[in-house]
Amino acid sequence: MKKSPSNRYDPLSMAFHWVTAIAVLMAFILGPGGFGRLLHNGVDPGTHSDIVWHESLGILIFVLTALRLLWVAVRPAAPQVAMPGLMRLVSKLAHLALWTLLLITPITAFLTLGSEGAPLTLLGGLRVEQLGFIAHSFLAPLADWGDVHSLLGDAIIWLAGLHAVAALFHHIKLQDGVLVSMLPWIKVR
Ligand code: HEM
Ligand code: HEM
Repeated sequence: MKKSPSNRYDPLSMAFHWVTAIAVLMAFILGPGGFGRLLHNGVDPGTHSDIVWHESLGILIFVLTALRLLWVAVRPAAPQVAMPGLMRLVSKLAHLALWTLLLITPITAFLTLGSEGAPLTLLGGLRVEQLGFIAHSFLAPLADWGDVHSLLGDAIIWLAGLHAVAALFHHIKLQDGVLVSMLPWIKVR
C-alpha cells in the first residue's frame, strides 16, 4: 500500500538514480570505438581494459535498472510537485524514454556481441566465449547491432543531459523542489 507522497524520493530510489547516472556516464566515456576492427584483426577484447570496464558497467546498469523497476512497483509514492499539465506530460515522457534506453541499450549490446561472434568480457577475468543463442536467433541478422547500440548509447547521454538541464531549470528558475526531491544531501523542512 502506497502512503501519501513525501516531497523527497526514498533513499533507495535516490541511490539507484545516482549510482546509475554515474555508471552511465562512465560507460559512455569508456565506449569502445573501433570494436569491429579489433575483432577483424584477431585482437581479444578481454585484453582491452576500456572494453572490460564498459561491458561490466553496462551489465551493472542493466541489473540495477531491472531491480529498480521492481522497487518502483512497491516503493512509497514518488513526490508530486505541482506543475502545468504539459510540463508533467513532457517529464513523464522523458522518464519513460530514459527507462526504455536503460533497458534496451544493454540488450542491443548482447545482440552486438552475439551477431559479431565476440566474447562477453568482464572484470575479474569473467568471460562468456560465445553468445550462441543470440547468434542463431532471428534477431541477429536484422540490423548492424553495433551501430544501433552506439546510437542508443549516444541518445541516452543526450537525453540525460537535457533531463539534467530541466532539473536545474526547475531548481533555479521555478524553485519548485523537483531537483531537491532527488538530492540525498539537502535537508528540507
Ligand atoms: C547503458 C549502458 C551502455 C551505454 C550508455 C553504452 C554506450 C556505448 C557507446 C556510446 C558506444 C560507442 C562507442 C564509440 O563508437 O566510440 C558503445 C559501444 C559498444 N558497447 Fe556499449 N553501452 C552500454 C552497455 C553495454 C553493455 C552491457 C555491453 C556488453 C555487454 C556493451 C558493449 C559494447 C560494445 C561491444 C561496443 C562496440 C560496438 C561496435 O562498435 O560494434 N555496452 N557503447
Ligand atoms: C545518465 C544520467 C541519468 C539518468 C539515466 C537519469 C534517469 C532518471 C530516471 C529514470 C528518473 C525517474 C526516477 C524514479 O522514478 O525513481 C529520474 C528522475 C530524476 N532525475 Fe535523473 N537521470 C540522470 C541524471 C540526472 C542528473 C545529472 C540530474 C540533476 C542534475 C537528475 C535529476 C533528476 C531529478 C530531479 C529527478 C526527479 C524528477 C521528477 O520526479 O520529476 N538526473 N532520472
